[in-house]
Amino acid sequence: MKNNKRRYPDLHDHIEELKRRGLLQVIDRQIDKDSELHPLVRWQFVGGMEESERKAFLFTNIVNAKGRRYDIPVLVGGLAANREIYSVGMGCPVEEIQSKWDQALQNPIPPVLVENPECQEVVHEGKNLLGEGMGLDMLSIPISTPGFDSAPTLTATNVITKDPITGGQNMGTYRCALKASDRLVVRMATRVGGAGGYLHYLAWKKAGHKTMPCAVVLGCPPYVSFMGPQKMPIGVDEFDIAGGLAGEAIEITMAKTVDLKVPAQAEIVLEGFIDLEKLEPEAPFGESHGHVALEEFNMPMTITAITHRNKPVIPSYLSQVAPSESSVIKRVAYEPLFFNYLKSTLGIRGVKKVSLHEPLTGLLRVTLITVERDMPKTEIWRALYGAAFFKGDCGKICVAINDDIDPDNADALLWAMAYRMNPVKDVQTLDHRGQGHGPKRETEGEEDSTLLMDATMKGDMPPLALPTKEYMENAKNIWDELGLPKLRPQSPWFGYSLGDWLPQWDDAARRAAQGDYLENGKISKAQQQSGLTPETKFRPQ
Ligand SMILES: Cc1cc2nc3c(=O)[nH]c(=O)nc-3n(C[C@H](O)[C@H](O)[C@H](O)COP(=O)(O)O)c2cc1C
Repeated sequence: MKNNKRRYPDLHDHIEELKRRGLLQVIDRQIDKDSELHPLVRWQFVGGMEESERKAFLFTNIVNAKGRRYDIPVLVGGLAANREIYSVGMGCPVEEIQSKWDQALQNPIPPVLVENPECQEVVHEGKNLLGEGMGLDMLSIPISTPGFDSAPTLTATNVITKDPITGGQNMGTYRCALKASDRLVVRMATRVGGAGGYLHYLAWKKAGHKTMPCAVVLGCPPYVSFMGPQKMPIGVDEFDIAGGLAGEAIEITMAKTVDLKVPAQAEIVLEGFIDLEKLEPEAPFGESHGHVALEEFNMPMTITAITHRNKPVIPSYLSQVAPSESSVIKRVAYEPLFFNYLKSTLGIRGVKKVSLHEPLTGLLRVTLITVERDMPKTEIWRALYGAAFFKGDCGKICVAINDDIDPDNADALLWAMAYRMNPVKDVQTLDHRGQGHGPKRETEGEEDSTLLMDATMKGDMPPLALPTKEYMENAKNIWDELGLPKLRPQSPWFGYSLGDWLPQWDDAARRAAQGDYLENGKISKAQQQSGLTPETKFRPQ
C-alpha cells in the first residue's frame, strides 16, 4: 500500500512549482545529449546574464549523436541554477535559507520506512540490464564537457553507502561515469574532508569484504537532493537533516537488491556493488574546481537493479567552471555552516557574514569574512584563523572586510586591499595546508599554504568620492526617463561617510548643491589664517 501522507514536494512537484513561477524553460526541440545539451545551458553562466535571469531547463526531446531517442526527460539547473530556484526547493524565501539550515541542523527528524514506494514502480534486473539500449544505456545521461569528457557522467547523484559495523548510512553527491549497460565507475574524493562514502569503502575493505553495497539515486525530493553536496559531520544521517528541512519524516524504503535505504520518491535508483579489489580508469571529466580532472583509477560498480518511477525525470547538475549550478548549490549550503561555526561555535560576535568566492575560484579557495566596524583586531584574527581551518579543503585565502565592501565584487575587494591593508602588518602566510580539491592534486604530496589578510578599516577615513545616494537616485530617474541603456548598478554606486566627516561639511555640500557656493566662500573667508604652509589640515569647529 502506498503511503500518501507526505506533504514535502518530490521532484515532479518541484518542477511544477518552477513552471508556475516562470523559472522553467521547457526545450521541446530535439537536442543531442552528448554534444548540445550542457553547452546550451552553459550560456546562462558565461553569456553575461544576471544570476537572477537564469532558469531551469527541462529537455523533453533527447537523442544521442547516433540519433537514438531517449524517453526520459533531463532537468539541468532545476535545483540551483540560481538562489531563487534553490529557495523554491527549500520552501522558503532566499533570505531565510540560512535560518532554515540552522533550524534543520538543530531539529533533525528521523525518516520513516514505507513499502511499495514510487521509486520501485518499474524494476529492471538480470538480463534486462544487459546490452545496447538496456540497463544504464537506456538512461539519457548527458556529457558535461564535450571536447574533454570521455563518458556520459551522472552528476546529480545521491550516492548511498553504509558503515559495515554500525550500519549508519552516508549520502553524498559523487560523479559516476557510465562504462557499460551494467557498470559505472564512482569517484569518491580520498582527501581529508573528502567523501564520507570513501570512509565506508575503507571500512568494508578492512573488514575483509570483496564488495560494498551502494545505491546511486538520481532525482530525489529537493530536501533530500540538497543533502548530497552538503558537508555534514561523519555519522550524521542526512535523512534526519532532510527531515528537519521538510518539517516531517522523509519516507524511505528498502532497496531491492542491496541492504540500503533509499528515498521512496526517488526518480531512479541504481543498485549494485562496488568492487573493493579492482579499480578502473575514469575521466577525463570537467571538474568543479574549474579544470579538467585527468584520468585516474576509481571504483567500478556492478549494477544489480535499476528501479524507477513510471515517468521519471533525470536531473543533471551543470558543474565545472564556477559559477555553475554546482557552485550555487554548494554555496548556499556551506556559507551558513561557516557563519554558524564562527558565530556560535567560536563565539565571535562581530562576524556579520561569510562569503565563499564563486566565479572561477569555485568556493573552496577564497573566503571573505564581513565584520563589524569596531571589532577588536584579536577577534578579526580569530575569525580569519577559524575560517581558514574549519574545513580541511576550504579557506586557502581568507580576507576580512567591512560591510560596505560587496564580497561578490572583486573590484571592491581589491579596493579594500589597496586602501585598508598594510601588507607588513595585516597579512600572514601559514604553512602546512593540504592541497584540497584542485588540479594540483596530481603533484604527489606537495603541501599548499594559507594566506590571511585583514583588509578592514583601521580607523576613520574620508567618504567615498561619489555623489551621495539621493543625487545618484535622482540621476537614475532622469536616466530612465531619457530611455538610456539598462543600468546594472555595481556596489559601491554612491558616496558615503567612512567616519572622517563633519556636519559642517554636510551643510557646505548642501549649500553648494543648492547653488549657494558664494555663502561657503563667505564662511571660508572668515576662517583665513596666516603663518601656515599649504595643505595644512583644517577642521571647522
Ligand atoms: C555536482 C557535484 C559533483 C560532485 N562530485 C563529487 C565527486 O565526484 N566526488 C566527491 O567526493 N565529491 C563530489 N562532490 C562534493 C560532495 O558532494 C561534497 O563534498 C559532499 O559533502 C559529500 O558528502 P559526504 O560528506 O557525505 O561525502 C560533488 C558535489 C557536486 C555539487
